[in-house]
Amino acid sequence: MNFKEEYQKRVESIEEILKRYLPAREGYQEIITEAMEYSLMAGGKRLRPMLMRESYELFGGKGRLVEPFMAAIEMIHTYSLVHDDLPAMDNDDYRRGRKTTHVVYGEDMGILAGDALLNYAFETACTAFDLEPEHSLLIGKALQILARKAGIFGMLGGQVVDVKESGHRITGDVLDFIYRLKTGALIESSVMIGAVLAGASDSETAEIENIAAKVGMAFQIQDDILDVTSTTEMLGKPVHSDEKNEKTTYVTLKGLDEAGKEVERLTSEALCGLSRLGHENEFLEALLKWLVYREK
Ligand code: IPE
Ligand code: IPE
Ligand code: MG
Ligand code: MG
Ligand code: MG
Repeated sequence: MNFKEEYQKRVESIEEILKRYLPAREGYQEIITEAMEYSLMAGGKRLRPMLMRESYELFGGKGRLVEPFMAAIEMIHTYSLVHDDLPAMDNDDYRRGRKTTHVVYGEDMGILAGDALLNYAFETACTAFDLEPEHSLLIGKALQILARKAGIFGMLGGQVVDVKESGHRITGDVLDFIYRLKTGALIESSVMIGAVLAGASDSETAEIENIAAKVGMAFQIQDDILDVTSTTEMLGKPVHSDEKNEKTTYVTLKGLDEAGKEVERLTSEALCGLSRLGHENEFLEALLKWLVYREK
């Protein structure tokens, strides 16, 4: 398997889905649909919708039911980035290789574009009821996961503690809590929704949630590493953002070496978990391995 080729194929398919689900640019509020498109179509690794579809297929899902949810998770993730970059939060000017949404459209529209993406994500996910009404129960379950993992017991809750503890020294336990929620939750929801829509059992869904929790933790630690070791050109977002905001990160707490080892350890645990599931997915394995050594 040529990983790069397979990955690119998936990115293109995801972007085609995103375009299809974007709201039409019309009406007096056109500015907001433009700002949504600006942030959503700026590139990015598309990891979450990719994991969602891989998980859907892993558990035997076929057809297009997963597509509105793939668009929805990328909208929620993008909203989290638009708000994360706001002056009141991390105050960053670049994202996905472009000026951030609030820099281009103003802070007011930056806030509203984030809100709009969050709400439109649910509008989009709900169109799954029209696609396959006979699977309404599964769709309802998937919506429940999406809602919870984005909220105060998920991504949003993690961001709250991240922001509240900026400038303070925190313990490893609090840092784990932040990462598990701010980054882990959306990654967990991605694979869980894929599994649920494919008709996986509760225990299978819990197993893949566990695997994704490890991936999420490794992913955030690698993000912290890149914030120190990479360049703005490479990342498409400012480096040293964490230092600027006086964040405690895995790197400030344990050092670069230890952080790198933890990413490898968590990834190999995730790979073990995946093989225990007993469904082969060569691409998914390669994707997890690639994430460890990713450069952006
Ligand atoms: C950035 O997420 C925010 C984190 C949770 C670390 P990604 O690194 O997935 O950002 P994009 O989607 O590729 O831009
Ligand atoms: C953000 O963590 C996680 C989100 C929920 C957006 P970071 O603040 O480290 O993400 P980047 O580095 O700005 O992408
Ligand atoms: Mg942040
Ligand atoms: Mg940030
Ligand atoms: Mg970061």
